[in-house]
Amino acid sequence: MKLAVIGTGYVGLVTGTCFSDLGNDVTCIDVNEAKVEGLRQGIIPIYEPGLSELVIRNYEEGRLKFTTAASDVIPDSDVVYIAVGTPQSDSGAADLSAVWKVVEDIAPHLREDALVIVKSTVPVGTNAKVFEMLKKLTGRECHCASNPEFLKEGSAIDDFMYPDRVVCGVRNEFSEEILQTLHAPLLRTGKPILFMSPESSELTKYAANALLATKISFINEIANLSEKVGADINDVRIGMGHDQRIGFQFLFPGLGYGGSCFPKDVRALASLADSLDLQPKIMRAVDEVNVHQRASLVRKIDAYYGGDLAGKKVGIWGLAFKPKTDDVREAPALELLRYLIEKGAEIAVHDPEAMENIQQQFGDKIHTYCKNEMEAIDGADCLAINTEWNEYRTPDFNKLKSKMKAPVIFDGRNLFDLGVVEKNGFTYYSVGRTPVDPRLT
Ligand code: UDX
Repeated sequence: MKLAVIGTGYVGLVTGTCFSDLGNDVTCIDVNEAKVEGLRQGIIPIYEPGLSELVIRNYEEGRLKFTTAASDVIPDSDVVYIAVGTPQSDSGAADLSAVWKVVEDIAPHLREDALVIVKSTVPVGTNAKVFEMLKKLTGRECHCASNPEFLKEGSAIDDFMYPDRVVCGVRNEFSEEILQTLHAPLLRTGKPILFMSPESSELTKYAANALLATKISFINEIANLSEKVGADINDVRIGMGHDQRIGFQFLFPGLGYGGSCFPKDVRALASLADSLDLQPKIMRAVDEVNVHQRASLVRKIDAYYGGDLAGKKVGIWGLAFKPKTDDVREAPALELLRYLIEKGAEIAVHDPEAMENIQQQFGDKIHTYCKNEMEAIDGADCLAINTEWNEYRTPDFNKLKSKMKAPVIFDGRNLFDLGVVEKNGFTYYSVGRTPVDPRLT
């Protein structure tokens, strides 16, 4: 099939590239000329494992193209995917201006039998509005479907190629057949493609993300309780997870969820319910708990030093909102960096992928951008961990201790065993577990 994918952000680029890898003829369209030129030269604007190789291979083999000229590509396309950003607006609702602009741009060029598919995460009712807008602009009822994405950054290619399910919101059999044909190669493992109304499909996406976010806020609240009552959240989590009704996934406590999806989607869903006078209590609470949790490492550091961090050297491991990505959007590390800068601390940071993104935001407010994690703790008064990159999990504690000025660790991701850090003589604050701190005994 011939596909046009509009928007070469995270979702559009992964979707277009993977569909080209499945043998379709795909053109990715973006308004940003520099980005399009870069992609043609194999420069991938984001870090996502496996994506670069896939883009280059499919581009070289001619199945994947990049352009800014939508009008050249749309008349020839069987399917037009809309995958532009829907950022949070000031009110908390999703800002759909990019979606409306695309609809206006493509309408004059759409073939009568083309299927327009909205991939962007959009409030319930958006697909119906796109359908109406296309009708007004073209004078006919266009085929228009919803097909939300469930890709996790860091494993997006696998998530695309081996989906748990494919959700499609459709209005007619024609759209259903095209979506079925397009996704057939992804369903050979027996996972389902589910057809429903566009409204149900749009709500499924928000509800799935909101429930996952709820699990995280829930376990973080229990973790905070654990700290106060002397329980160990890791034991509690495992004790809960063995109940098959609960399971183990998305119950890791930490510094709250970040990234480009959960925070904005939870707020957008709450905002939608608000606009319908439904007073969304759970969604608001999930967001509030998360905002509070994101500052939990800051609170611990602040309490330990009585707020006096002027001149203290803090080594930071992990800046990305989670491992295997360079994405720092809504990352808990941002909160910590702002606090430490305000307090006049000396900051040394390390992250395997996200250094450039942080440097763009913080520049020389951060004193040292380190090549490796050991450099970041050289002479440090303490180490603060924001992201659970695998390479941080098994440090040489002796070396760490000998390089640091004081053996103090604040760990927002529970990377280490309490017994091990204690045996090695560290003061250690983690999440939902009793602190290891000789000052407290
Ligand atoms: C998420 C959804 O999983 C995906 O289906 C959707 O399409 C986009 O949003 P993503 O934002 O890439 O994907 O990351 P995910 O792996 O889901 O993690 C989200 C956040 O939750 C991260 O900040 C992570 O650190 C946090 N998290 C996750 C926890 O704090 N605890 C957990 O147990 C799991």
